[in-house]
Amino acid sequence: MSENGRGQWQTRAGFIAAAAGSAIGLGNIWRFPFITGRYGGGAFVLVYILLLIFIGYPVMNSELLLGRKTQKNPVGAYKALAPGSPWIIVGFMGVLAGFVILSYYSVVAGWSLSYIFKSGAYMAAGSDAANIFVSSISSTFGGIFWHTLFMLLCIGIVYGGVENGIERWSKILMPVLLVLLLVLIVRSVTLPGAGEGLSFYLKPDFSAFSAEGFLAALGQVFFTLSLGMGCMITYGSYLKKDEDLPLDAKYVVSFDTIIALLAGFVIFPAVFAFGLEPAAGPGLTFITLPAVFSQMGAAGHIFGTIFFILLTVAALTSAISLLEVVAAYFIDEIKWNRKKATIGMGIAIWILGIFPSLGYSTLSNVKLIKGFDILDSFDFFANNILLPLGGMLIAIFIGWFWGTDKALEEANRGASTKLGASYSFLIKYVIPIAVFVVFLNSVGILG
Ligand code: PHE
Repeated sequence: MSENGRGQWQTRAGFIAAAAGSAIGLGNIWRFPFITGRYGGGAFVLVYILLLIFIGYPVMNSELLLGRKTQKNPVGAYKALAPGSPWIIVGFMGVLAGFVILSYYSVVAGWSLSYIFKSGAYMAAGSDAANIFVSSISSTFGGIFWHTLFMLLCIGIVYGGVENGIERWSKILMPVLLVLLLVLIVRSVTLPGAGEGLSFYLKPDFSAFSAEGFLAALGQVFFTLSLGMGCMITYGSYLKKDEDLPLDAKYVVSFDTIIALLAGFVIFPAVFAFGLEPAAGPGLTFITLPAVFSQMGAAGHIFGTIFFILLTVAALTSAISLLEVVAAYFIDEIKWNRKKATIGMGIAIWILGIFPSLGYSTLSNVKLIKGFDILDSFDFFANNILLPLGGMLIAIFIGWFWGTDKALEEANRGASTKLGASYSFLIKYVIPIAVFVVFLNSVGILG
């Protein structure tokens, strides 16, 4: 505990592991490949990487420094720096986003959890793994059961507090995930017919790229780095005052990017090798990878099982951070104790999650946005609207209201390589304008 009685990261590696643990999750392994497939492959990847560097990295620094400066949750942070102003609404939007994202995140993580026990089924089905996925998600009881179990895990860990558990878990399990991805890549790229997938993934074809793809890339940058909703404000609030913040941000962004790019190398060669559809959407990880495992002989059982354990753990370290944002708000601002905040909000989020969970069975007729099912609609609303908006507003807040000089002072305390004029320029001009233009497009898409 720090002197103000809030949690504090024990070690530098522990913080990086926890922040990378928040960043690395379903967004990297499940979401990145499926939206890359949906929006045209290589061109999407290229735009995504540029946006990571010029928008993701500065916003990551911004959130961490606001958190460390104020030692507060997102609502408390805006309240502390801009008392009595409407900026606090941005903080509330973040808490709302955490709420909505976790509700469906837990549903998808629940699929992953259930797949830990399904190696027998998909190994037998081989390249027909699609059937197993469809029957899993369209089981009313199954969907709710796994969603419930995952939420219980998440509540249990957040209930335990900041220092214990999260740090150690993340430090051990993240490297293991990396090794497993590497093994799977070797299997995937050596499948007959893998080359077509590699060229889809690596060769930018801008004719397949659209304004909507740009919006999706930006949404993905915020989602994958856990930005735009105050998650990194909250994690930054548990940082020591002399931590090398820009360097930590660099590590987190790099690790996150590496894992996402590696996931693409597992998925796309396999998608093409098995004649599957790269634009298959949310099912990609749960249909394609099992098909790959089934090609590995008996070892497939082991790799498949371990892979889904790790995917679940990666999801768990992200889910924890989502619940932590919501909980930190109730703890700091409403003065609930940790027990009441995590259990109460965990249950509320669990209830909301029942809707996306039923979106493939009882509620399969419900289409909300653009004909997307409930889960895809929640995902679109959070990632293409709430997160970019939150990211734009934090840039405007720092650039035009609080001041980049104060931000630089906070970020650069303890920094080996200091942030400077390019940070200020990106925060003041580039990010607000770029995100605004993209955002108008997204409203256009909705209308
Ligand atoms: N970054 C996480 C992922 O990629 C998701 C997440 C988004 C977590 C926003 C926290 C906040 O899976």
